Amino acid sequence: MIILTSTLGLEGAVALEVKSYGYRIVYSESGKVFVNAEYSDIPFMNIYMRSAERVLFVVGRFHARSFDDLYDGIRSLDWSFIPNGSRVWIAKVKSVSSKLFAERSIQSVAMKAVADSLKLGSGPRYPVFINIKNDEVTVSADSTGEKGLHVRGYRKKYSRAPLRETIAASLLILARYKGENLIDPFCGSGTIPIEAALMAKNIAPGIKRSFASENWADLKDIYRKLKKRTKSETKDIDPPIICSDIDEDILKVANENAGRAGVKIEIMRRDFRDIRCEGEGKIVTNPPYGERMKGVWRDFKTIFKSCPKWEKHFISPIKNISKIVRKSPDKSIPFFNSGLKVFFHQYYRIKKGQDNSPHP
Ligand SMILES: C[S@@+](CC[C@H](N)C(=O)[O-])C[C@H]1O[C@@H](n2cnc3c(N)ncnc32)[C@H](O)[C@@H]1O
Repeated sequence: MIILTSTLGLEGAVALEVKSYGYRIVYSESGKVFVNAEYSDIPFMNIYMRSAERVLFVVGRFHARSFDDLYDGIRSLDWSFIPNGSRVWIAKVKSVSSKLFAERSIQSVAMKAVADSLKLGSGPRYPVFINIKNDEVTVSADSTGEKGLHVRGYRKKYSRAPLRETIAASLLILARYKGENLIDPFCGSGTIPIEAALMAKNIAPGIKRSFASENWADLKDIYRKLKKRTKSETKDIDPPIICSDIDEDILKVANENAGRAGVKIEIMRRDFRDIRCEGEGKIVTNPPYGERMKGVWRDFKTIFKSCPKWEKHFISPIKNISKIVRKSPDKSIPFFNSGLKVFFHQYYRIKKGQDNSPHP
């Protein structure tokens, strides 16, 4: 089994995406999606998943209410996927609502059990996570590594409040973006438009980076073949995407980021109040929030007036958004963006006789 970790509240996007690749979800809980997948699926997940933050390979699960249970549980797991001479360490411990809660002690007992199960050395690195919830221990190996999957390799400079790449991709997945007209009127450093262009061009998000598991036993070849395959899958198109913002300097960063990501998008300086929309399409955006930005929210309904035929999908800290735009959203998904609770409000149209729901 594989665990895909996600931004709190956006598990639905991860589930939708992994299901679209033909995998079966075993279950989901906050921040985690458990997928019926094998060790050999690790490279695919790391290279292709856009919305997940990490790919954890589950070594095993057991019940533990004492340190003896913990030691015995870890000793009884099948560690044969790790060759002798590897470097294995307990990289992360988390315990919630459980008899065992002292994380330092859990770490040292777990490490002893691992060291007694394997002949350790200084070879390939295997970071191990121990998660305990309601006395149920999940032991997993972090195949992604130090940097989460949001690090794609194209972003070197940031805006003041950049959106994580994995969150931008999650929002696009929830908006059912499929390469149609797209505008982000508050694009900042361009994360949403760039992620959209990567999706439309079928460029795998992990192509430009490396992963902790690239040196793991039996995975090297799979990584090499997949990275080669993804190159031939790229579509030679420039999707119709507009990235606009009021800040000229941040648009220069967006332009540099798009270049590094290998995508072409239209970048323009424009106040969101001057937005123009032709035909049909989707607005997916992350407007500024906080006290200073009251003016933005006061005038936000301009977007609804100027683009009546376009779907609108946007983040806001305001739960009751209908007070602002005078229209109830079709769906609002609460999630945590940099520790702040926000809502992803979605306005999409249902055409007569057609289920156009963007949700499973
Ligand atoms: C939360 S940031 C967007 C960050 C972006 N998603 C990223 O990943 O870099 C909000 C953006 O709104 C822009 N903004 C503020 N007022 C604006 C206005 N009146 N019209 C257009 N953009 C505006 C800011 O310059 C800022 O880049």
